[in-house]
Amino acid sequence: MTEGPTDRATDPATRAAREYRRLLVTGGAGFIGSCYVRDVLGRRDGTEITVLDKLTYAGNEANLASVRADPEADARLRFVVGDIADRDVVNDLVRDVDAVLNFAAESHVDRSILDPEAFLVTGVIGVHMLLEACRTAPQRPRYLQVSTDEVYGSVAEGHSREGDVLAPRSPYAAAKASGELLVRSYVVTHGIDAVVTRGSNTYGPYHHPEKLIPLFVTNAIDDLPLPLYGDGLQRRDWLYVSDHAAGIDHVLRHGRTGETYNIAGGVEMTNRDTVGLLLKHLGKPWSLVRHVQDRPGHDRRYAMDGSKLSELGWRAQTTFEDGLTQTIDWFVENEPWWRAARTGDWDAYYERQYGQRLRTAT
Ligand code: NAD
Ligand code: DAU
Repeated sequence: MTEGPTDRATDPATRAAREYRRLLVTGGAGFIGSCYVRDVLGRRDGTEITVLDKLTYAGNEANLASVRADPEADARLRFVVGDIADRDVVNDLVRDVDAVLNFAAESHVDRSILDPEAFLVTGVIGVHMLLEACRTAPQRPRYLQVSTDEVYGSVAEGHSREGDVLAPRSPYAAAKASGELLVRSYVVTHGIDAVVTRGSNTYGPYHHPEKLIPLFVTNAIDDLPLPLYGDGLQRRDWLYVSDHAAGIDHVLRHGRTGETYNIAGGVEMTNRDTVGLLLKHLGKPWSLVRHVQDRPGHDRRYAMDGSKLSELGWRAQTTFEDGLTQTIDWFVENEPWWRAARTGDWDAYYERQYGQRLRTAT
């Protein structure tokens, strides 16, 4: 949170892994949180996880089905349906753990433009409840806030570093930046043991199909139009989901109290090029793409410097080519999963977000 070369983790003591056996994982039924739970319980090192998840449209218990099907892992998972903004539930659960990892958030920028309120309730009040619970719990658990490169805003050139000014530009990004600032205030004022991660654009299996890669893959499978915002030359840095989960776990166990760590994918792509690659893999034509009206306030480029976390010994393992292939193959093989995710409010959301855009597309 206060960064610069002198704050880098050069102290060998910080390199020794800390042990956290009992974890509270909020948002553990979502895309990245469920990957974290599957991967940690799959290690079979005795770690026990309580998931607290509100099961919004983006949360899905089926994301943890492989854990449920494995009796040894299942015995170490407890699932609680609830809201991180609910003080009583949060106080109760935080008292029993060694560390809290907060993945819970409303995570879709487009929805934050349409309906921002839930972003603020979860991203600010929810984070506040978790921090208060950590402050008052007798065992003083470590707290890890999962944040995003979007807090830096659009990066015209170079790569964002942890000490750079925060310049969020969407309600989603502003809520995430606000959550981070609350964490910082609790470290400074109350001395809680907290760390923050800022991950880049994440992709992989179980990604909710409203986001770019899964939306375009699933639409292309059905030969539906692919709504590319503006000129499609916006740039994103892609990080495979299991790499993101591993980076978060690395910061939990090695990160220095009060510090923030970028988790960068190191794969900068224009949206056009990403879409070209996925169409090629699926054997579908570019003619499915429609250039539609741009996202308001659309950040042109994200790019982070990941050297601070590299110095702690972490590196992404998955190339974009391999990760994209694995992701597309997973969606092809798991049609019931994504078709179920495109129910509920999906049609109403799709019409609101894309109806007019597609009718006036070029
Ligand atoms: P997601 O939308 O797939 O999952 C969010 C989960 O949080 C869902 O299971 C949802 O039910 C749960 N949730 C929402 N509000 C809640 C509340 N009030 N109480 C309890 N649970 C609640 O999101 P994701 O893509 O897995 O992102 C996880 C975290 O990582 C978020 O904090 C997000 O800001 C951050 N992040 C995401 C990306 C990305 O590219 N997806 C990149 C960097 C950081
Ligand atoms: O950078 C990290 C962030 O990445 C996370 O904090 C967010 O939770 C996550 O949703 C993601 O945000 P983005 O806005 O970058 O992801 P999204 O998939 O919505 O969009 C990726 C790019 O694709 C972006 O430039 C907008 C563009 N896009 C997206 C959609 C859904 C389109 O062109 N058309 C679309 O229909």
